[in-house]
Amino acid sequence: MQLTTQSRHPVSRVGRWAQQMLFNRSFAEYISPLVSMVDPLASVGGIKALVESLNKDGAGATTIRLRPGRQWQGFVPGQYLPFTFSVDGVRLTRYYSISSSLALFRQFGFIEVTIKRVAGGSVSSWVDSTLEAGQIVSIGQADGELVLPAQLLGAGNSAKNKALYLAAGSGVTPFLSMLKTYGTQELHQQLIYSASSQGEHIQQQILEMAATANMSLNFHDSSQSDRLAKETLLTLCPDIIERQVLICGSVEFANAMVAALAALGVPAANVQQETFYSAAKPNASEVGGELVLQGVKAGMPIEVTIESNGTSILEQAEAQGFSPASGCRMGICHECTCKKTQGVVRNLLTGKLSSADEESIQSCISIPVGQVSVELASS
Ligand code: FES
Repeated sequence: MQLTTQSRHPVSRVGRWAQQMLFNRSFAEYISPLVSMVDPLASVGGIKALVESLNKDGAGATTIRLRPGRQWQGFVPGQYLPFTFSVDGVRLTRYYSISSSLALFRQFGFIEVTIKRVAGGSVSSWVDSTLEAGQIVSIGQADGELVLPAQLLGAGNSAKNKALYLAAGSGVTPFLSMLKTYGTQELHQQLIYSASSQGEHIQQQILEMAATANMSLNFHDSSQSDRLAKETLLTLCPDIIERQVLICGSVEFANAMVAALAALGVPAANVQQETFYSAAKPNASEVGGELVLQGVKAGMPIEVTIESNGTSILEQAEAQGFSPASGCRMGICHECTCKKTQGVVRNLLTGKLSSADEESIQSCISIPVGQVSVELASS
């Protein structure tokens, strides 16, 4: 384990604590620097994790191995957790699924997440370029309901212990954790992974598991053919109707898979899904409307009027230099909730249009439709 700067220079640590003590506003903030002098992974009012190592694939994907502090309560394969990074002085929170096995955490205290650099992504770019082993980051408890039902993991009628994972893009990461964890149990797992690029780091992780586990792995090259058709699903997984099916990917992918499974006769009760919003091309009819953003910049209340470019209100606000509150950026955490004072927005996850009344909206999944005014919440 690398020592942090704090533990090498106890005098400056005390000075920093004394300085913070004068200005802190809560007891947790008051005591936390003192606690972290004793144990860098201990804190009051938050959880920390040590970046143990980074594994980069050279194509923008970074697998981070972390050791969470003792306050972290563990996870169930399939769950995600929030990370808060300080990027250029701004605290930004993002959610990432755990891709490592339960055994790695129970035996050695480590978890892993894989973060793919995305164009214009402030956090993923910062992770790729700046994050180093030995740094300490803030995390939250694991959460999420895309986990295997308990009855599937128990011994018994093995003919019924079958799971099928349908993943697209980065939606494969929760299934990596399941494949690594349950590979030796009385459970057959099949993964059908739809992705457009070849030779990715994530695919390499999957291929490394293939020889050792009770599992089937199928890659579907989405750049060569359209989405997985129901005929393809049935060919790849002839006993699909007997399986518990878990889906993770974009809203469009999940909707297509749910429809295909229904057409194949898979009971809806056997299907679980988790979706995320992936930036799509702006809808031409939603570009050009007047968007009024009210928020705070450099401590000053500011109002900016722009022509909407058809992306989410959160993205457009950030492009204007605002730092509105946000978290998962996929409609889960509600951290980005703000007040729409005028106009209609479209919900990216449901496709539904809002009313024109004053109401709360989630800025990360709301696209302005026509003239819209929003009061942003400060981070
Ligand atoms: S940032 Fe989490 S719901 Fe918008």
